[in-house]
Amino acid sequence: MRAVELIAKKRDGGTHTRAEIEFLVNGYVAGQIPDYQVAAWLMAVCLVGMTGDETGALTGAMIDSGATIDLSSLAGPLVDKHSTGGVGDKVSLILAPLAAACGVQVPMMSGRALGHTGGTLDKLESIAGYSTALSAERFRLIIDECGYAMTGQSAEIVPADRLLYALRDVTATVESIPLITASIMSKKFAEGADALVFDVKTGRGAFMKEIDDSRSLAQSLIDTGRSLGRGVVTVITRMDEPLGRMIGNFLEVEESMRCLRGSAPTDGLSDDLIGVTIRLTAWMLVAAGVESAIEDAEAVCRARLADGSAYERFMRNVELQGGDPAELERQIGSRRAAHAVTIDAVRGGYVTAIDAYAFGLAGVGLGVGRNKTSDEVRPDVGFELHAKQGDRVAAGQPLYTIHADSADAASDAAHRLVDAYAIDDTAIAAKAPVVEEHAAL
Ligand code: URA
Repeated sequence: MRAVELIAKKRDGGTHTRAEIEFLVNGYVAGQIPDYQVAAWLMAVCLVGMTGDETGALTGAMIDSGATIDLSSLAGPLVDKHSTGGVGDKVSLILAPLAAACGVQVPMMSGRALGHTGGTLDKLESIAGYSTALSAERFRLIIDECGYAMTGQSAEIVPADRLLYALRDVTATVESIPLITASIMSKKFAEGADALVFDVKTGRGAFMKEIDDSRSLAQSLIDTGRSLGRGVVTVITRMDEPLGRMIGNFLEVEESMRCLRGSAPTDGLSDDLIGVTIRLTAWMLVAAGVESAIEDAEAVCRARLADGSAYERFMRNVELQGGDPAELERQIGSRRAAHAVTIDAVRGGYVTAIDAYAFGLAGVGLGVGRNKTSDEVRPDVGFELHAKQGDRVAAGQPLYTIHADSADAASDAAHRLVDAYAIDDTAIAAKAPVVEEHAAL
């Protein structure tokens, strides 16, 4: 087989055999097929698509590119959640300790920033000393000790996703249902969870901008999960405006900690984040068999947030993964890049839209994400929103603050965001953050 022929086959609308897909994945991981050929093939897949069988074969080849983690010695139940990617989406940072505090063990393998969306690993690594490069044994021990652990793909575990994910990030080849499905499901299968909850984002700041595409992605995740013998719940949630109040690696850790401590300011700016997180965590409890009714599960989640037990799990996890909890507490509210610029409303009215995609792209410009694979992300840059969709603002009232490394970077971000806030005389009806849910357990 030759890579160039397989690229041409997909470009011309062909369907790959399992052997062809294995040849491409194995050849790439072994360093025998170069980035530029795989990038061309990924673009062909993005444009042409894949059949269900091809998606299954790609997922299988990615799982087989490394070892899988054996968590059978843990008491369980083992359930994980994964998001298809959004802006300000720090749900995992709150949900994992919350689910652990509710009696579910969470083996979580996450990704880095991808395209305009943020990455859980980059956020966690903004905590000084925190390591997301865990061996399989350390991963198991930390779950046993505090109920959850957060790790990334490695040279041993799904190396194919580690390489393909980084290449897709910088070649505009993320927005593809089969590529997203295989990327997510290969990680989820390798990490050893028994059941999975997927947060499928929809809207401007998501990879799937139209609801029908989000539904197709949800169905693809259910089908692939079923074929791998996993129970799956999909929850489609809105990603039109950024989730919560903060966008940026350490800024999002900070907002997560405030929500975990039950000390999120009562101005409503984190309400959408808390609502989505509780719903997804509640589905984990149902998928785990810990609760049978979703409303009861939500009540348990609220109680574990209020009594501080979820926050305790978070701090214990920080310590176990190499961070210093006391130092982390001290940094809250003070770890900011050198330049802060606040943008005010030019007119009064109601905020009718906040463009999550524009904030995501402007964030990449600041260093929240990457333009090329070798870029380092920055911990202390990003945005703080002072008004969310539906809020009434007066002319001159602050809308958002940019945290940037330099005055030029701040002004570049402000430039990209001139139209990001839409303000109108009439309010729009509030839309519930959860659009629809489907349980295939
Ligand atoms: N999350 C992943 O892990 N992979 C994708 O391709 C998109 C979101």
